[in-house]
Amino acid sequence: MDEIQKFNSERENAITEMGNDADLKRLSLDWMILADKYKYTYNFSWMGRPIIKFPNDIVILQEIIWKVKPDYIVETGIAHGGSIIFSASMLELIGHGEVIAVDIDIREHNRKEIEAHPMIKRITMIQGSSIDPEIVNSIKEKVKGKKVLVCLDSLHTHDHVLKELQMYWDMVNVGSYIVCPDTFIEYFPKGYFKDRPWDVGNNTMTGLKEFLKQNDHFEIDQEINNKLVITEGFDGYLKRIK
Ligand SMILES: C[S@@+](CC[C@H](N)C(=O)[O-])C[C@H]1O[C@@H](n2cnc3c(N)ncnc32)[C@H](O)[C@@H]1O
Repeated sequence: MDEIQKFNSERENAITEMGNDADLKRLSLDWMILADKYKYTYNFSWMGRPIIKFPNDIVILQEIIWKVKPDYIVETGIAHGGSIIFSASMLELIGHGEVIAVDIDIREHNRKEIEAHPMIKRITMIQGSSIDPEIVNSIKEKVKGKKVLVCLDSLHTHDHVLKELQMYWDMVNVGSYIVCPDTFIEYFPKGYFKDRPWDVGNNTMTGLKEFLKQNDHFEIDQEINNKLVITEGFDGYLKRIK
C-alpha cells in the first residue's frame, strides 16, 4: 500500500467509525438546533453573496462538483444568490459549465447584485415555480444529453420536494447527484418553524424518503452522511446509481 492509499484507507476507516458514533451524532444535532437560534446558516457568504448553508455542506458540494464535473448545475432556490455563485465559481475553476437557477421570487436587490457579479457569465436565472412544467421542460430541453447535477433548495414541504424530485430526477446522469438540503428539519422539535409551511413529518426528508420508495435509480450516499455529521442535509445527498 503506497502513502496515498494508506492515507485514504485510514480516512475511510475513521469516517466509518465516526458514522457509528451515536454520541457524536446526538451532540452534533443538539449543536445544530442550538446554533439555529442565531440563524447560523445565514452567517456565511461566497464571493460576496450570502449563502444559506453550513460550511460543511459547501465543502461537500465542492467535492461532488469536482468529481462529477457537470456541464450543468440546475438549482432551485436562489435567495441572495450565494449558492448559485458558488456553483458557478466551481464551474469556472473546472473550465466549463453553466448554472440554471429557478426561484419563484427573485428579489430586485438580489437580482441586481447577482447580475453585477463576475460569475453571472455562467448563470441563467429563471423566475417562476420550480414545479411549473413549462419551466422544467425548457430546462430539460437545454440539458438533454449533458452531465447534470441538481440541487433542490426551494420550498421544503413534503409535497413540493417530492414533486421536484419526480420532475428533475431524469435530468441527472448516472454517477451524478441530486442534493436536497434542509432535511434536518425532521430532527427539530415539532412546531419549531412557526412561520414556515414545513414541520416534523412534512419536509424535505419525508419528501425524499417517499421518492426513494418510488424510484430505485438513486441511493443515499452514506459516506457523505458519515463524514459530514454537522449538516443540514442528512440523507440528502442522493447518488444516481442506474
Ligand atoms: C433556502 S432559500 C435558497 C437558498 C440558496 N440556495 C442558498 O443556499 O443560498 C429558498 C428559496 O426558494 C424560493 N422558493 C420558494 N418556493 C419556491 C418555488 N415554489 N419555486 C421556486 N423557488 C421557490 C424562495 O423564494 C427562496 O429564495
